[in-house]
Amino acid sequence: MKKVALITGVTGQDGSYLSEFLLSKGYEVHGTIRRSSVDYRERIAHLEGDPDFHLHYADMGDSMSILQVVSKVQPDEIYNLAAQSHVQVSFDSPEFTADVDAVGVLRVLEAVRLCGLKDKCRIYQASTSELYGKVEEVPQNEDTPFHPYSPYAVAKQYGFWIVKEYRDAYNMFCCSGILFNHESERRGETFVTRKITLAAARIAQGKQDKLYLGNLSSLRDWGYAKDYVECMWLILQHDTPEDFVIATGVQHSVREFCELAFKHAGMEIEFKGEGMDEKGYDKKTGRVVIEVSPDFYRPTDVVNLWGDPSKAKRELGWDPQKTSFEELVRIMVKHDMEKVAVEHVSSVVRMNLAEYLEKGIVK
Ligand code: NAP
Ligand code: GDD
Repeated sequence: MKKVALITGVTGQDGSYLSEFLLSKGYEVHGTIRRSSVDYRERIAHLEGDPDFHLHYADMGDSMSILQVVSKVQPDEIYNLAAQSHVQVSFDSPEFTADVDAVGVLRVLEAVRLCGLKDKCRIYQASTSELYGKVEEVPQNEDTPFHPYSPYAVAKQYGFWIVKEYRDAYNMFCCSGILFNHESERRGETFVTRKITLAAARIAQGKQDKLYLGNLSSLRDWGYAKDYVECMWLILQHDTPEDFVIATGVQHSVREFCELAFKHAGMEIEFKGEGMDEKGYDKKTGRVVIEVSPDFYRPTDVVNLWGDPSKAKRELGWDPQKTSFEELVRIMVKHDMEKVAVEHVSSVVRMNLAEYLEKGIVK
């Protein structure tokens, strides 16, 4: 009999890769979606029509919808990926973020209990390196103290602890993957890496003048999303329910990401100046192509994330170095160079809408 998996947040970056991964392993995959007035299923469009791929409406803010889908699907495994996942947006919508990212986790756990599936169903919770926030040590591992530093991180910390609580209190197989940043050609366009690769492609092709960014010195441990979804699955196949840090163990700055992305787009960037006055120049023409804008600074920012994936390597046999930082940037820029090449000016405007919204130009 096929194993049955339920993925919340199936339309997201990770949900789409995880669906592909589980289908390739022979699972029957069910995903939750939300109604929207525009088409948002781009990442999973190629899976619709697969006889083992099914979609259901449910919202993390609506217990009844979650209860209904869990009861109907009777999953062997749940991957709870749905979340308001943008840290900067969590400062603008803190209550929504808390409801979906914190209480939403409780709704999933309770649905499993109420459906009498607590001994059958294993649950993966999408936890995050943002829990380390204002970091208390580097690199960060499973024993590093948490210091969440945004409404998003505080909500995710509740998710982490309620999962641990249900594991201890009810003996449920539920675990958190503490995942460091992972990116891909499917990454949302307002996260810094994708914003950079798209801008590098458009600037190189004469379709955009400048890229505005926030803190260029922020440090992240960036991996490839495709590699990380395998780990979600491995965590649920482990003999015992445990939490794992998933990271590459290598750290780079936003500035370094820019230099490499523009290089792959055929431009050499040189940064000059400091703080808000720092600018990125096209070495060939001397033109300013990157500027710093206060709009992209956060009230509190997490600036030094660096993961130690030793436990995942040792106990899950996972390879943190499968895709290097250089390869990740190359994959993303190659994809965006091809995408931008066939973009019309009107669609460039449309695709920049997310950035305009984020900057407050369009309300
Ligand atoms: P993403 O691309 O933003 O996808 C988020 C998903 O959650 C989308 O499918 C979204 O649906 C859904 N969602 C949002 N609010 C919802 C609600 N109220 N009810 C039901 N579904 C809702 O995020 P991702 O990068 O794939 O990340 C997946 C998970 O891992 C998230 O929980 C994120 O916080 C966590 N995480 C991500 C990273 C990373 O670097 N990517 C690192 C650590 C942890 P719509 O398409 O309808 O918006
Ligand atoms: N988004 C964005 N836009 N970030 C910028 C910009 C910009 O223009 N300029 C600089 N940054 C800096 C941010 O201040 C932050 O320090 C860093 O780049 C990374 O920002 P994001 O790409 O937005 O990701 P994040 O680290 O805040 O959050 C992502 O990773 C978390 C795991 O650590 C999200 O995927 C979260 O859902 C996830 O939990």
